[in-house]
Amino acid sequence: MTVAVLVLNGPNLNMLGKREPGVYGSKTLGEIEADTKAAGERLGMAVDFRQSNHEGMLIDWIHEALGRFRGIVINPGAYTHTSIALHDAIRAVGLPTIELHLSNVFAREDFRHHSYVSPVAAGVICGFGAAGYGLALQALQPLVE
Ligand code: DQA
Repeated sequence: MTVAVLVLNGPNLNMLGKREPGVYGSKTLGEIEADTKAAGERLGMAVDFRQSNHEGMLIDWIHEALGRFRGIVINPGAYTHTSIALHDAIRAVGLPTIELHLSNVFAREDFRHHSYVSPVAAGVICGFGAAGYGLALQALQPLVE
C-alpha cells in the first residue's frame, strides 16, 4: 500500500543550485524533487513536493494536509527561525512532521540555532545536504504506517 506524504519547502529554496552552493550544494530543487520522489517510491510513499516563498501558503498547505496526507517533511527555510505561525499550524493538524535542513544550522550563525518548528516536529534532520530528503522520508516511514 502506498502512503501519501507532503514535502514542503520554504523561502529561497527555489534558488537551490544557484544559491550559495558551498552551503546548500549544487543540485536544483527540481533535481531534489525527482530524487525525493524516487526515494519515496522505494519506501512505498507517494510524495507531493511543493515550494513557496510565502508563509501563508505554507500554512494553507499544512492545513490542507489533514485527511489527504499521513505525514509531512518540511524544510521551512528562514521561517524555521521566525515563524510561530508555522509552529501553530503543525501543532494544529497533529500530523507526524520531520523538520529538515540541508545545512547544519548549528554550525552556522547564532540566529539559525533556534527553531520554532523543532518543538512540534517528531525529529530533525540537518547537515546532510540533499541526501537529507531521503533520510527524512526514512525517518517518517514508521510514523505513518
Ligand atoms: C535551511 C537553513 C535556514 O537557516 C536557511 O534560512 C534556509 C535553508 C537549510 O536547508 O539549510 O533557507 O533551512
